[in-house]
Amino acid sequence: MAAARGSAGKPAAERRTDPDESAAYTAEPFVPRGADLAALREAAAGCRGCPLHREATQTVFGAGDPGARVVLVGEQPGDQEDRQGRPFVGPAGQVLTRALDEAGIDPTETYITNAVKHFKFGHLPGRGKRRIHKSPSLREISACRPWLTAELSLIDPELIVALGATAGKALLGSSFRVTKQRGMLLPVPEEGARECVVATIHPSAVLRADDREAAYQGLVSDLRVVAEALGRP
Ligand code: URA
Ligand code: SF4
Repeated sequence: MAAARGSAGKPAAERRTDPDESAAYTAEPFVPRGADLAALREAAAGCRGCPLHREATQTVFGAGDPGARVVLVGEQPGDQEDRQGRPFVGPAGQVLTRALDEAGIDPTETYITNAVKHFKFGHLPGRGKRRIHKSPSLREISACRPWLTAELSLIDPELIVALGATAGKALLGSSFRVTKQRGMLLPVPEEGARECVVATIHPSAVLRADDREAAYQGLVSDLRVVAEALGRP
């Protein structure tokens, strides 16, 4: 069905906002100026800034405390999030909530979102309808960045947590390496002087790790860097 929905047969006005493979991908024209979070969320539901909206069920916008001191940034919605329309409601979210608690950060006092707001997936041959997560490309990450920029500027947190490589790239640039840069306070190039990023592994990586316990403890220890920074006067 999606294959039949290329831009060729569409009216000119729609073609302009529904980029084909050769067009620049960007959410920019869909982000309303001066909007509050509720208005941003509503506008994001209609984003067509890159092709990912075509196959996904819905836009999964950020959620949580709009006055949060910490914003957590994941990669993209997973299967459950795509169905439910909320970030981190699946297995990765459970790991994250437990790790936050253990690190001394109240999950209800955070705001959580994703670098890319539509679920990217494929199918494995012979595996039926099961949707398999695919990593977003740099082009898709950068297309979706205006939403993250808008969320961060409204919430204006003290700290941002990059969960995994995709979030790290969105916040710190494409040369970001989680193995080299995790667990330390890093300045954010774009977000002004006040905020710092702490990068860590993605909670899904805990679930995939050979040694889950070690991976989980690594996540908790990086989140403690965040808790400590928040505790400083
Ligand atoms: N993984 C993510 O990065 N984000 C979600 O919302 C769920 C799983
Ligand atoms: Fe828009 Fe981001 Fe969805 Fe692409 S992934 S359509 S840029 S909201």
